[in-house]
Amino acid sequence: MKNIVIIGAGMISKSHAAAIKSNPNAKLCAIVDINESAAKKFAIEYECDYFTSVEDMFESLKPDAAIICLPTFLHEKYVILCAQHKVNVLCEKPVEMTVEATENMLDAVKKSGIIFMVAQVVRFWPGYVEIKEMADSGQLGDIYMAYASRCSVMQIWGNTWLCDPEKGAGAIQDMHVHDIDYLRYLCGEIDTVYCLANKDYTGCYNHAMSSLTFKNGQKAVAEAAFTMKEGYPFTMLLKIAATKATVEFHYRAGYSIGDRDEIDTELRIYREGIQPEIIKPKQYDPYTKQFEYFLSCLENNEQPKIVPHEQNLDVIKAVCAIRESAEINKVIVIK
Ligand SMILES: NC(=O)c1ccc[n+]([C@@H]2O[C@H](COP(=O)([O-])OP(=O)(O)OC[C@H]3O[C@@H](n4cnc5c(N)ncnc54)[C@H](O)[C@@H]3O)[C@@H](O)[C@H]2O)c1
Repeated sequence: MKNIVIIGAGMISKSHAAAIKSNPNAKLCAIVDINESAAKKFAIEYECDYFTSVEDMFESLKPDAAIICLPTFLHEKYVILCAQHKVNVLCEKPVEMTVEATENMLDAVKKSGIIFMVAQVVRFWPGYVEIKEMADSGQLGDIYMAYASRCSVMQIWGNTWLCDPEKGAGAIQDMHVHDIDYLRYLCGEIDTVYCLANKDYTGCYNHAMSSLTFKNGQKAVAEAAFTMKEGYPFTMLLKIAATKATVEFHYRAGYSIGDRDEIDTELRIYREGIQPEIIKPKQYDPYTKQFEYFLSCLENNEQPKIVPHEQNLDVIKAVCAIRESAEINKVIVIK
């Protein structure tokens, strides 16, 4: 049985709490939040202890792992603190705001020997998983062009950090990162990025279209937006034109990605000479799958092969280069 602490009792913490609760090999022992009423409410709902500072929690507990659900600009500080206490970490995406902060975290992780995984949940998401399996088994062939999109209404619920250019950086850092990560997973190392984007009233680029080239010659375009008007469902799209197949996936939820009560999702596969295949991806909770995988890494004492550290760094390099490209309107070569 692994004892788990969640740090940050905001929106995404509930998905992680539900994943822990559904797993017979894990126990949610505490929540930490500087907002005492949020911590208390969470502790009552999920039947665990609560603390109002991470430092206080470490004075009382030695959990097997911490799940970092803090605003993005705080990830570096608290991942390093966990590493110093030799506590394994599942850290929400995006791993951090800058390449330097990400490198600092990864250095601390390496020195401490803890198991560290970034919660890139799309790698566990029904539909995306099947497409990755098709690519790996050679059923897609070479990709001519991939298009990955993620659009929603503004996701602000008192979380002022999200669209602060230094603390959350809006749709590019928060939404685009999912697709840039998935495209890195699917197509390999990124060579160049170019971003066309407009800032909105928050000062962040909240609607971005990025073109990516990969070192193996494959190409992709990704879109991320917080600019949709009220009522627009959280929508993810993935379309791939490849030498052996064309695939098209869509997922339309409610207000946010976790609002899955009335989802509309479908995967279509088109191949020469046969009828198109229409698949309803098997619906399971991807946060639960992601947690099960993290737990298996703890049990086997091995770093996550599905979400490797070097790819986490590649993705933050690409996302930061996309923000820079939006600013200077130039193609950026990833170093
Ligand atoms: N994987 C996904 O689908 C997904 C979805 C949403 C958010 N996220 C990511 O999860 C992270 C958190 O996002 P959120 O929407 O839950 O944020 P949020 O603003 O809803 O919650 C953050 C919580 O952290 C608390 N907090 C702030 N500073 C703290 C500190 N020093 N110590 C303890 N608690 C502190 C706040 O009081 C707040 O309750 C972000 O990195 C975000 O990008 C991922």
